[in-house]
Amino acid sequence: MNKRTPLVAGNWKMNGRQELLGDMAQALAGYHGEAQVVVCPPFPYLAAARATLPETVGVGGQNLSDQEDGAFTGEVSAPMLAEVGCGHVIIGHSERRALYGETDACIADKFARAQAAGLVPILCVGETLEEREAGHTEQVVRRQLLAVVDAVGIAAFAQAVVAYEPVWAIGTGKTASPEQAQEVHADLRRTLAEKDPAIADSLRLLYGGSVKADNAGLLFAQSDIDGGLIGGASLTADSFIAICQAAK
Ligand code: PGA
Repeated sequence: MNKRTPLVAGNWKMNGRQELLGDMAQALAGYHGEAQVVVCPPFPYLAAARATLPETVGVGGQNLSDQEDGAFTGEVSAPMLAEVGCGHVIIGHSERRALYGETDACIADKFARAQAAGLVPILCVGETLEEREAGHTEQVVRRQLLAVVDAVGIAAFAQAVVAYEPVWAIGTGKTASPEQAQEVHADLRRTLAEKDPAIADSLRLLYGGSVKADNAGLLFAQSDIDGGLIGGASLTADSFIAICQAAK
């Protein structure tokens, strides 16, 4: 494993209740692995998550508004997330892009809002099956990444995390092979290195898409994979902890 501290983030999506938070808090109290751990429950549970999870475990939002506080019914701003104890926020998840029409430009705005409030963005990029089959994977993920780099500047990536999540692997049980994932991670890191080699070298690149306890070890062993963004398997304490333990 490289010198970057691994990070494992659990993305509950619109799942889980108070009870899951209790289970996680109890299980994570006994976790003493090498990976930094972040739990991202739905908005209503964030404050309770901060109050119940061990201090060493981070709490993150799954989304935020691209606007400042104001008349935006139903939205949640970056300073609100920070105030209830979030340290991270997921930005540009493929479900946000596909189901809620989030564009590269809107994602770049959200990234900037997050950082202005002191949150660490977890920026998601990833290609669809169609794009992969057409041989466009690298072109797509580079475009998604560079749209943000060009808007906020490479220096901002010293305080950010990037997650590669192939859309065809999310929630499908079809994970990218460790080699497939490593190839894209290496390309993302090269793309950033062209702007700033030191920032590229220190940036944590997570893999997401059907990571489970039994495939996490091989994925995380790849030289450019620094942990994972975990959906389905973050909904039970046992499997989430097992994945956290695999990141070292
Ligand atoms: P999955 O989701 O682990 O259920 O595939 C990952 C994600 O969408 O972040």
